[in-house]
Parts: sequence; structure tokens; C-alpha cells
Amino acid sequence: MTHPLNFTRSGLLQAIVGCLCSCLTITAVAQTDLTYSRDVAPILQEKCVTCHNPEGIGPMSLMTYEQVRPFAPIIKDRTTKRIMPPWHIDPTTGIQQFKNDASLSDAQIELIAAWVDSGALRGDPADLPPPLEIPSGSAWQLAAEMGPPDLVIRSTPYDVIANGQDQWWDPQVPFIGLDKERFLRAAEFKPSYPLGKRVVHHGHAVLIPEGEKREVALARYGVGKSYEIFPEGTGMRVPPNGRIEWNLHYFPVGTPGDDDVVEVGLWFYPEGQQPELETVGEAMFRVDGLNGMMRGQDILIPPNSYQVLTGTHVLQSPAVIHSYRPHIHMRGKVMSMEAIYPDGRKEVLSQVDKYNHNWQISYLYAEEAKPLLPTGTVLQFTTVFDNTANNPLNPDPNQWVVFGRRGVDEMSHAWVGITYLNEEQFAAAVVERNAQQNTLRLD
Ligand code: HEC
Repeated sequence: MTHPLNFTRSGLLQAIVGCLCSCLTITAVAQTDLTYSRDVAPILQEKCVTCHNPEGIGPMSLMTYEQVRPFAPIIKDRTTKRIMPPWHIDPTTGIQQFKNDASLSDAQIELIAAWVDSGALRGDPADLPPPLEIPSGSAWQLAAEMGPPDLVIRSTPYDVIANGQDQWWDPQVPFIGLDKERFLRAAEFKPSYPLGKRVVHHGHAVLIPEGEKREVALARYGVGKSYEIFPEGTGMRVPPNGRIEWNLHYFPVGTPGDDDVVEVGLWFYPEGQQPELETVGEAMFRVDGLNGMMRGQDILIPPNSYQVLTGTHVLQSPAVIHSYRPHIHMRGKVMSMEAIYPDGRKEVLSQVDKYNHNWQISYLYAEEAKPLLPTGTVLQFTTVFDNTANNPLNPDPNQWVVFGRRGVDEMSHAWVGITYLNEEQFAAAVVERNAQQNTLRLD
């Protein structure tokens, strides 16, 4: 186990080094002619206004100079600390190619800081990029790419209270609408708008096929992860009949609302078409409560201290990993996913080092960067809980913390988008990957 002091010391060292580096570079780019219209608006359009628009989940709109100007100092603060945009991957280790990379580049962060420091000037409105069209918060995000969903399933209405503790709503609803087995291509989880987007903390819609014990996880949601598109040629087998088990976690935010309903949109491969690879979607890998122990038995974090937990899982067949989504609560700070290959080589695949429970981001690997893992690979997850006052999200460092479903208790697992392959499919995938990499090198 890492000694708490080591953890603090290395964190401190990193902070000092980080500050030295960024201070140096900021001086290097210090310019006085940076303007909102020409330099900053394009960055905000690309990285901020999807949430910071009048209908978005961000607390304020950042679409015009008038809206942005009063927030300039706090924008500099949140971006230089990498709190905004929400993206909690450690940029210094593991895979860095993601389909949904929301982070700002170092250059963009420096540019915003330099613009703020030089007076946050407006510049010439003629330099502004064309205005963006923001889709309504009640629209399907995937509709632009995929058209309207083929099938929509709905939870039963729930009355959301204004204030109080976490609430769970687990209705069961018959699954109707398919007349034969189909293969799922994409699914989107859509809380009601605007209330549901604020109060639905996470949710699952799992199909239990008629007469079977198996689970088909149609959609899993957390703030920051609302849809899943499988790569062309990969799909999830969906039987025509069964029941949907909903598991909805509501977190009151001060606004009540009756009859809240969550929708899940499903897009299928054409009838009769079977993709080459069948996926299970996101599978859960526990870091707490393994090996026959009671769930979470091993989470016990003393006041004002740290705890490190490790969970290992041996892959019984080859696999390709599409995405990584750690799940911890308020004391959870870090979770890494490492691969220990059958030859003993160990590699960090991804590490989240700035975990924030308010966000459940699914990090979607770019196609060419998806881990391809042979049979016998050990997936090892390591979680660091920080129950000290150094953790700004810690509600009370003087409490003992144990396993529990509430946000103030702890748990630790990762949702990993994974497709299990047979040996031939794996061999073919490796050949294809090597060919891609050779082409890249030749370029
Ligand atoms: C995925 C949605 C999302 C994106 C993208 C995003 N934000 Fe935010 N932002 C939020 C939410 C939600 C909050 C409030 C809750 C929180 O702080 O997590 C917030 C809070 C903030 C705050 C603090 C406001 C306050 O009064 O405390 C600032 C400043 C900010 N965002 C700036 C930005 C900037 C600049 C970008 C782009 C570089 C950005 N955000 C991208 C959703 C987002």
C-alpha cells in the first residue's frame, strides 16, 4: 500500500513542477493583442458552449462577449486548474487518444490565461466565428448522426422531491416493440428536460429476456455519459421480449417535479443483419468486495487519511476495450486501469487522477488506441480514497467512511466497455492493428 505521506509528497512535487512549467510558458506567450472575437470565442465554441448555453447544464451561458466578460477571471482559474471543461484523465500516463476528448490543450489554456491577463479585450466583432446552432436540451443528441431512434423505452413517472437525501427508483416495465431479435447499434439515455438533466445522477436500463436470467444492459447513464455507439460491425444482441429493470438514482437539487420520466432511445442494425462482433456493452469490474467477500467489506477509511484498494480480474478470453468509466464517490480521487500481460509486462491503460463524483465521464478510446488484450491478461484497478481536508470534495474529513450507496459513503468499481473475442478474431484484430500502425509510421 502506498504510504499516505508518499502520496502527498509526490502530489506536492507535481504541483510545484507544474507551476514552474506553466508560469514559464505563460510568460513566453504573453501577448497583448489577444481578443475575444478572434482568439477566445472559437475555443469557447468548441469546448464550452455545449454546456454553457441558455438551455445547457452549465450554470451560465458563455456564448457572447457580454456573457463571458464578467466570468473572465474565474474562467482563467477553472481552466488553468483543469477543473473546466470536465475531463479527469491524467494526461501524463496511459492512452491519450479519445473520441470524446473534451480537454483544452496546453496552448488553449495558456491563450485563455494570457487573454484574461491582458484585459480580456473584445476585439473586432467582424472576427467572430459564425454563431453555433445549439440543439435543444430535449432533443436526442445522436439524432444528428443517426436520425430518430428506432425504439424509445420509458421509465414509469416518479415524483422528485425538492430537498433531501439520495433517492432510488427501480420500476420494472415490459419490453415491447420488437417482433424479432435485433442487434443494437447505439443507445442514448435521456432524462427529462430541464429537471431530469439536473436531478438524475445516474441510471441503468437493463433488459431481462423472457424466461432467462441473463442481463442485456441496454443503457447506462451518468452525468457526462449519455450515449453509446458501437463501432460498425459490433452490436449487442437484443431479444424481442422481456422486461426492463430500471435503476434510477435521483439526487435532489432544490427543485421539485411530479411525474419525471426517463427515456432511452435505441438504434438497431437493419433487420436480419448480424454484425461480426457481439458486445456486452459496459461490464462492471469491482475494486471493492472481491473474491467472495461481502460487497465493499474492504472499504474502511479512517478520518483524515487515505486508503488504497486494488481489484484484479483475469480475462478468460481475448478482448478489445472501447471505454473506461470509473465510479467512486466523494472521497475517491484516483482510479487507474492497468493491464498485466501474460508475459508479465505491465502497462497503465488509463488513469483518472482528478475524479469528481458530480461527473461520470465515459472515456471513449479512439479506434486505433483501443486496448487489445490476449487471454489471461490481468486487468488491475487501483483506487485511492482521500479522506483528508486536502480533498476539496470531502464533506467531512473527521468521519469514518465505509461502503454504501449514498454519495457520502464509498464504493469503487469501473464500467468498462468491452467486447470479448475468440482467438481467431483476436489474431485478425492484431494483424489489422499492426497494419494501421505501419501505415501511420510510413505517413
Ligand atoms: C460537459 C459540460 C460542461 C462543459 C463542456 C464545460 N462546462 Fe463549465 N460547468 C459545467 C457545470 C455543470 C458547472 C457547474 C458545476 C461544476 O462546477 O461542476 C460548470 C462550472 C463552470 C465554472 C464555474 C462557475 C461558477 O460560478 O462557479 C466556470 C468558470 C466554467 N464552468 C467555465 C467553463 C469553460 C471556460 C469551459 C470550456 C473551456 C467549460 N466550462 C466547459 C459544465 C460544463
